[in-house]
Amino acid sequence: MIGFFDRLARPFLRALDPEDAHGLAIKMLKFAPLPPAPRDDKRLALRVFGLNFPNPVGIAAGFDKNAEVPDALLRLGFGFVEVGTITPLPQPGNPRPRLFRLDADHGVINRLGFNSQGADAALKRLAGRGSAGGVVGINVGANKDSADRVADYVQLIERFAAVASYVTVNISSPNTPGLRNLQQASVLDDLLARVVDARERVAPNAGPTPVLLKIAPDLSLGDLDDVVGIARSRRVDGMIVGNTTLARPPSLLETAIAKEAGGLSGRPLFPLANRMLAETYVRVEGVFPLIGAGGIDSGATALAKIRAGASLIQVYSGLVFRGLGLVAEIKNALLEALEDDGQDNLTDFIGADAAAVTAEPWPQ
Ligand SMILES: Cc1cc2nc3c(=O)[nH]c(=O)nc-3n(C[C@H](O)[C@H](O)[C@H](O)COP(=O)(O)O)c2cc1C
Repeated sequence: MIGFFDRLARPFLRALDPEDAHGLAIKMLKFAPLPPAPRDDKRLALRVFGLNFPNPVGIAAGFDKNAEVPDALLRLGFGFVEVGTITPLPQPGNPRPRLFRLDADHGVINRLGFNSQGADAALKRLAGRGSAGGVVGINVGANKDSADRVADYVQLIERFAAVASYVTVNISSPNTPGLRNLQQASVLDDLLARVVDARERVAPNAGPTPVLLKIAPDLSLGDLDDVVGIARSRRVDGMIVGNTTLARPPSLLETAIAKEAGGLSGRPLFPLANRMLAETYVRVEGVFPLIGAGGIDSGATALAKIRAGASLIQVYSGLVFRGLGLVAEIKNALLEALEDDGQDNLTDFIGADAAAVTAEPWPQ
């Protein structure tokens, strides 16, 4: 059913403007009569951040920005869904065109700029899920014109904690001017203190809600030292490494499209994202788990991400080029790796190559 839907839709979606194709994919998911996902092999199950994941393959933030289709995505076999980025107030984002495919590179550039229907709309949908189950994380961000960005995050944690499996504090989008400055040590310390405090405040009603921090792959290693140190001292529950990059690797073939402003994702992001993941893993010293994102488009890249330090992984751009079959392909590859290694769960793979990855030459 999924394969059929995918094969039918993909050539058609690829022929459209990328943003129109995305809008149509969301509409199709809203109305497709998808059966529940088949049960995953229990060797893929993990307990991370105090939550039970049936498998480690999530869909990254930015696909379902307004929490329109989390249950359809769970039915497609994802182990978890991260909706958002959601901003407090609705905002249109940047003018179109703002989403570009680098076909020859299997990459994407976006400068959407947090187009969001706002917190009220998303909250209403998520509250309507009731006890639908499944891990649904909520990625939150500040409005572009906000006078107090830290207050935006605090407000969103307070409002969404009750309907979120976890909340991601996204301070790494390159498309909201100044947002990434929140990664600077003094600002970040204040932000995380207030965010964690807000989480504690609402916990008696909302329950314990893990708070994750999503970082840019473009941090210097000195900045990463600071960010990890602050995340540890403020006791966040995990980090996502990471968002899109402002870098343009010299290997890119689509040189004209590569000049578009925005964040690059997909296959060309993999080497940098994987290196930053391993660098983060060695600094975190097992204090909290990591989610790895950036350039996963095969079973091999998914396993490499886990071996570099990810307890869970997220995909987005890979789906554009490989289709929904990618999810099953990754799960099968992970099971095969477990068989080959004589393991009955993924734990021993997590971070197994982190030290080796950090010893490689810096990726171009
Ligand atoms: C079109 C598009 C929109 C995105 N929007 C968001 C977003 O709203 N919030 C966020 O934290 N990340 C966003 N991302 C980044 C992804 O969540 C992910 O971190 C990044 O694309 C790397 O993964 P990938 O190479 O598998 O795409 C977006 C990515 C793309 C391609």
